Order: sequence, then structure tokens, then C-alpha cells
Amino acid sequence: PYPVWRRMRDEKPLYYNERYDFFALSRYEDVSPALTDWQTYRSGKGSVLEIIKANIEIPPGVILFEDPPRHDIHRSLLARVFTPKKMMALEPKVREFTTRCLDPLVEGGEFDFVRHLGAQMPMRTIGFLLGIPESDQEAIRDRLDESMKLEDSKDRDIYEDGLLDGSIFADYIDWRTKHPSDDLMTELLTAEFQDETGTVRRLTHEEILTYVMLLAGAGNETTTRLIGWTGKLLAEHPDQRRQLAADRSLIPNAIEEILRYEAPSPIQARYVARDVELYGQMVPEGSVMTLLNASANRDDRHFASGETFDIRRKIDRHLTFGYGIHFCLGAALARLEGRVALDEVLKRWTDWEIDWANAKMAHTSTTRGWERLPTRVS
Ligand code: HEM
Repeated sequence: PYPVWRRMRDEKPLYYNERYDFFALSRYEDVSPALTDWQTYRSGKGSVLEIIKANIEIPPGVILFEDPPRHDIHRSLLARVFTPKKMMALEPKVREFTTRCLDPLVEGGEFDFVRHLGAQMPMRTIGFLLGIPESDQEAIRDRLDESMKLEDSKDRDIYEDGLLDGSIFADYIDWRTKHPSDDLMTELLTAEFQDETGTVRRLTHEEILTYVMLLAGAGNETTTRLIGWTGKLLAEHPDQRRQLAADRSLIPNAIEEILRYEAPSPIQARYVARDVELYGQMVPEGSVMTLLNASANRDDRHFASGETFDIRRKIDRHLTFGYGIHFCLGAALARLEGRVALDEVLKRWTDWEIDWANAKMAHTSTTRGWERLPTRVS
């Protein structure tokens, strides 16, 4: 989509798609302020085009799909439990999960950035954080991935299929209620907060189910795609890969550049809550506006030579994790996972090539990236 997005930035910075009836903003200078203007560009009907169009009721607690004041109540509760400090403390675990993915492969020579690493380690990490037993993690991830598949989303009830409903975790939450531990789930079960009516209370089981679905849904696939893009981009830029192998202190900036260059979650959709005029054109209240954060990330008007991948670039705030009140709650964790994954790969192999004949893109409505990325390593 990048060549199309570039044309949109240059020729139609406000684009209207007649066939599917939505608008799009693609320039950094437009996307960035729109992400912070939640009064105009609302998430309460969903932040995915198909969900806004489907006009379904969203259960409380899916903060991605909420506006203030409800958003703020749930966001601050989640943020209390889900602190950057706690994420950072996970580094040894993230390293352990990564090592467990990679070590069995060292002798074999066949390695898939996505299947062997990207689809495994984030799932183990979020599973560990929530205290979900490893034996259940894979089934849960597959079910989540299935629920986000694009192909058949038109004919399905999103609730029934589990995109917004956390019933697959219900047994586990019941069990944890009876057996408290020191994990995040127990913290959620016991946290007190003031709800919309002013009552101080604990979360209901239903709300916790929603939170867990949200965290697992928002945190798994996106990070899987980040790890895939890491493999792909560094395969295509051998010089930069070798620089990294020689100086691993460049890794954090390289991960930022990978995030900028290939945003795993490239489009955020919003419901337009009042008439707005942009580039001389009226966007009526009730329209759907898509904010192309991936396009903004490559806008030459903001990033010098935006279409060039450069791990040494100084990055002036990419929009891959969004911006404003919905800024990704898991950004610190995602960065940590990306950094550790790349570090551990580079410790084992400094050269790799993608087996393109067998690589495959993933097709979901919210993320962009690889499903299979078989790699020859040395
Ligand atoms: C929100 C991207 C990883 C949890 C967001 C948003 C983006 C995003 C773009 C804002 C959406 C909007 O404005 O409508 C990503 C990417 C990731 C990643 C690219 C990985 C590379 C994670 C992880 C977690 C997580 C690991 C948690 C474990 C969340 C939550 C929100 C969110 C809870 C909703 C915040 C709110 O609405 O207030 N993410 N994310 N994300 N993300 Fe992430």
C-alpha cells in the first residue's frame, strides 16, 4: 500500500473512498493532531472500519473502543496495573522465552521468524503476565488469531466469534479467583476503582474478561508482526544488519526505525462527531475517518527521506503506537520484546536470507505483516 499512500499524501491529502464510504488522512501533520482530537474523531463505536460500519454495541472495558469519560476510568485502572516498570522487570522472562524459541533451532538450520519466534514469544510473555498456564496459551492465541481473520468477517457476528467477548478465559478467571497469586490477573481481580456512577467497587468478572481479551488481542498479533518485519527488513538491508551485529547498542534505535517503517497496526479508524472542513472539503458528522499512521510515518514533510530505511536515523516521534489518549498501553513491552528478540537472534546468526517462495503475508483487518517468513540463517 505504500506507493498508494504516497500518492494520497501528494495528491489527495484528504481522500474519500466512494465504494466503501470512508475518508482518509495520510500526512503526518494531519494524522498526528487528529489522533489527539478525540472530541472530533471518536473511538466509541470502534476504531476499526468494519466495526464502526457494523454499528454494534461495545462492552465496557474495551478501552480501544471507548471515549472519555468511560475510557479514562478503565484506562487509568489498567494503567495502574500495567506499569512500564512492571514491563521492564519482565526482561529476564522475555529473554528466557526467546531463548527457548531459538535454541532448539541452532543446529537445524531452518528458521521462520514468525512461526518459530514472532508467534511464540509474545504469546508466552502476555500469558505469563496474565498468569495463563502455558498449556492453554496456544489454543487461546489461535482462537484470537482466527477471530481477527479478514476473509469471512462480513458474514460473522463478531461477538459470537470472540473478537470482543472473553468467554474463552472464563474458567481460568474463576480458578484464579479461588487461588489468588501475585500476578496481574489477581491484581485486576482485587483492584478497587470508582465507576461511572461514582460507586467504588471491584471489576466484575465480565469486565475482567473484556480486559484480558483486549490485552491478549492488542498485544499478541501486533508484536508478532513487529518481529516478522524485523527479520524481513534486516534481510533486505545486509549492511545495516552487519552494523547491528557489530554494535548491538544500535538495537533500540533499529527497533524504533522498524516500527516507524513498517507499522504493524497501520490504520486507526474513527467516527467523526462533528462536521469538519479539510482541504476545502466537508467531512460530515457521522462519517468514518481513517487515520493512516503508517503513511504518516513515511511522510517526507516530517521525516527526511521518509521512504528510506535507516537504523541510525534520529526519529522524531513515529505514530506506530498511536498518539493521544489511546496511545498504546503496551508500547514499553512491545519495544522490550522487539529489542530482546533481535538481540538474541543476532547473538546466534548475523546473516540471513528469506526463502521468498515460501513466505506468506497475513491478512487480518487490523494488522499488516507476515504469517510465514522462512529464513536461511548462517
Ligand atoms: C493501543 C499499536 C503492542 C495493548 C494501541 C494503538 C496502537 C497500538 C496503534 C492505538 C489505537 C488507536 O489509537 O485507536 C501497537 C503495536 C504493538 C502493540 C504496533 C506492537 C508492536 C501492544 C502490547 C499490548 C498492547 C504488547 C499489551 C500487552 C494496547 C492497549 C491499547 C493499545 C490496551 C488501548 C489503549 C487505549 O485505547 O487507551 N496499540 N500495540 N499493545 N495497545 Fe498496543
